[in-house]
This record gives sequence, C-alpha cells and structure tokens, in this order.
Amino acid sequence: MFLDVLCCNMTQTFRIKGLGGKKILSGELSPHGAKNAVLKVLAATALFSESIEISNIPDIEDVNSMILLLEKSGFFIKRLGARRLVCQPPRKTAARINTDIAKKLRASIVLTGPFLSRYGKISFPHPGGCVIGERPIDLFLSAFQKIGARVSRNKDYYTINAPKNGLRGANIFFENISVTATETLMLAAILARGETILSNCAMEPEIKYLAEFLNSCGARITGAGTPTICVIGGELLRNTKNIVYKTPPDRIETGSFLILGALCARDVTIKNCIPEHAASTIAILERMGVSLNIGKNYIKITNDFSGKGKKHFLATGVKTHEYPGFPTDLQALMTVFLTQASGEALVFETIFEGRLNYIELLNRMGARITSMDQHRILVKGPTPLRGRKLESPDLRAGLAYVIAALVAKGTSFIHNANYIDRGYEKIDERLREIGADIERV
Ligand code: EPU
Repeated sequence: MFLDVLCCNMTQTFRIKGLGGKKILSGELSPHGAKNAVLKVLAATALFSESIEISNIPDIEDVNSMILLLEKSGFFIKRLGARRLVCQPPRKTAARINTDIAKKLRASIVLTGPFLSRYGKISFPHPGGCVIGERPIDLFLSAFQKIGARVSRNKDYYTINAPKNGLRGANIFFENISVTATETLMLAAILARGETILSNCAMEPEIKYLAEFLNSCGARITGAGTPTICVIGGELLRNTKNIVYKTPPDRIETGSFLILGALCARDVTIKNCIPEHAASTIAILERMGVSLNIGKNYIKITNDFSGKGKKHFLATGVKTHEYPGFPTDLQALMTVFLTQASGEALVFETIFEGRLNYIELLNRMGARITSMDQHRILVKGPTPLRGRKLESPDLRAGLAYVIAALVAKGTSFIHNANYIDRGYEKIDERLREIGADIERV
C-alpha cells in the first residue's frame, strides 16, 4: 500500500489534444463516491467498538493516504475488492499520528475529534492539502478547549489532551463556517459527556450522510445539514444492524462533468448522480444558456451549438458560497467556462484567499482574465484558447486546466497531473470513454 502511494506521488503529465472549440464529446459519465464524504467516515470508524464496512470508495490518492494513516495508527483495514473495505479500530493507539502522511491531506485534521474523544490524546502536525490559502485550524483548537481539552503546541506538533474523565459537552459557535471543523467537533461530541450544541455549522450533504450513518449505529445527532447541530454524547458506537456505509456520489465530480459537458460535448449524460446536490451549478449553467434535462438521478447535457460560433453562452457573475451556494471547488472550472461565454463576468472567491492562482496560465492560453484583488477576477469572453504547457497548481485548478486544454486548439501538456489524481479517479480513462484525446505520458 505504502509503495502505491509513493508511486502515485511521482510527477505525472497529461497530454491532451484539444477540440478547438468543437462540442463533440458524447456518452455517459458517472461520478464515483465522494472524496470528502469517505475521508470523514474513515476517521469516524475510531468511534466504533467493532469493525465497519464502507462501500463505493473512490480509488484516489487522498483515500489511500487516509487508509495508510489509519493503518499506521493501528487500525486493521481489509480491502474487500476495489471499492469496499472493512476497518477495525484498535483499543489503544499511539497518540501521535504520522507526520508525513498527515501533512499531505487536510482531512487528516478530522481524525483529531474521534481520536481525542476515544483515546484521550492526540498529537498532529498542521494538516496539509491543496495550497489554496492559509487554511488555519484556530476554530478546531478553540472548540477543543470548550469541550474541556488542553491544547499545546511545539514547533512541529499540536498536542491535545482530554480531561481524565473525558470530554464534556458544550455550546460552540463557529466564527467561520468550516466543513472539517463542523465534522470534527460533531465526531468528538459523540463520546463526550452530555449535550454539545454546534452553531453556524457547514451544511454540506456529506455531513448529513455521516450523521445519518452514525445515528443508525447508536449516535444521537440532530440537525446535521442545518446550521445548528445537537449531539448527545454516549458510549462507543455499535453497528448492530450491520449497515454498510455507502459513499454518496461526488457532487463536485457531478459539477465538473456538467461544466466539461457544456463546453465540449454534443451530448453527455451524467448518470448515478444526485442533481439536488448540484443545484447551484445547474442554476448558473441554465442561466447562461446551457440546456439540461434533469431526472431523478441523471443529468443530460445537449448542446445544439454546432461549434461554428453561431451562438455563445452568456456570461454571468459567479460568487462562491458555502453549501448550498456555488462551491469554491468548482470556481476555477467555472472560470474556464466563462472564457467561452459572451460578455464580462466577475468571479468572486469568498472562501479561500489563494484560489485564483491559476489565471496566469489560462491567460497564456489566450483567456482574458484580469485580477482585481486576492478574491476577485474579471473574465472577458469569448476567447479562443490555444494548447500550452501547463502545471497543475492544485487538484481543482488542475481539472480546470484539463477542461481548458480540451476546449483549446492544439496540444497541451499538464504537469503535476498527480494532483488531479488526488480527487478524480482515473480521469484520463473516463474522458477517453466519451471521446477525448487524453493520454498520461
Ligand atoms: N477557517 C478558519 N479557521 C479554521 C478552519 C477554517 O478560518 O480553523 C476558514 C478557512 O480559512 C476558509 C473557511 O474557513 O476561509 C472555510 O474552510 P473550511 O474549513 O470549510 O475548508 P476545509 O474544511 O479545510 C473542505 C474541503 C475542501 C473544500 C472546503 C470548502 C475537505 C477535506 N476539504 O475544506 O475541499 O474546498 O471544505 O467547501 O473536506 C477539495 O476537495 O479540493 C477541497 C479543497
């Protein structure tokens, strides 16, 4: 397993032959299980007295890193085929989680909640992940103190200790809306004494899924998916009904495929998705003139543009927002879309201060994007794009480059494709299936 992860870390490059603006891809795409759901349920297995089975797991590098992190902490993990595993938490574990792996992924911070409440202590480095801003952890640290824990820090590590008689429930107001802080404290509260009320929580569907699964195993969580979550603490969780956690489809993959389809496809159907989870993206695309046929668990994109420049999508301003607003994870992809839309549009990234670092290379491809400040850019379109050598700065901007390269005329090379592999499983193979000329070189 460790070797697999090391190999994935070696720099990879995609070679993409662009379509020169033609919308000719055709076929079906299905989102895999959601990265940001499965990583958290893996962390939550620490709250169980017995093993837990998880299915529909995406085969991506972040998941492999999380599995390795758990194994290094004494968890027994058995793969049951490509997308399924069983995870058994240990009775005791070393308090310190592996630095090298934890620094690779932001989700490693979510382990702190369940580890602290079950094992009483945890030491961990500042979590890693995509470089898209400062990504502080102050909300976690102050919330841990509220539930009775002692927080200390040396040069490389934070150490958190629970009191001898365990964590105690508390009222916690998050000053910023944070996905991982909401999840971490919800998990910590499950074994705390008494009631914890979390306010100003993130409302992402992955949080609701997690709470529903944990409730089916004895947790007492109400309000997940709303701004206020209440958790009544209790004993270790037991999966007496042998429920398998089925990872929900990745709504960011769904949104990515919608943008890709609108730009490059004659007709593409996104199957096995939950359209409701992509509602903000659907609303924006429809406003810009994309024709979508939406069913219960599929979305069909049909482009009646011939690709001969007769008609263009209409530009519209886009502002990222916590769920159910337009996701920051699709912001770079939407910017690529706007380079092909008619008019001028402001893209306002409200969540992260370092997530517009991809525009220079798009401009080198022919886009006309002006930086206004750390959070805002102005995109003028439509502009034809030309193939270029690109370097993926992070996971989502990396996929934005893939889409830009498909739109462009000529061949592009995207280095650091392994960043894209962190979140999108075998994206090259899946895009080839709908007719894209993309190769890993
Ligand atoms: N923030 C603080 N203090 C904290 C924590 C967060 O000020 O202690 C701020 C952040 O700086 C940011 C805002 O709160 O301005 C929101 O950040 P959040 O904590 O919600 O982000 P995250 O939990 O670290 C998750 C996803 C990201 C996704 C964001 C926003 C995981 C593992 N990651 O990150 O996913 O962009 O929520 O939706 O769940 C990705 O998949 O590519 C990705 C980056």
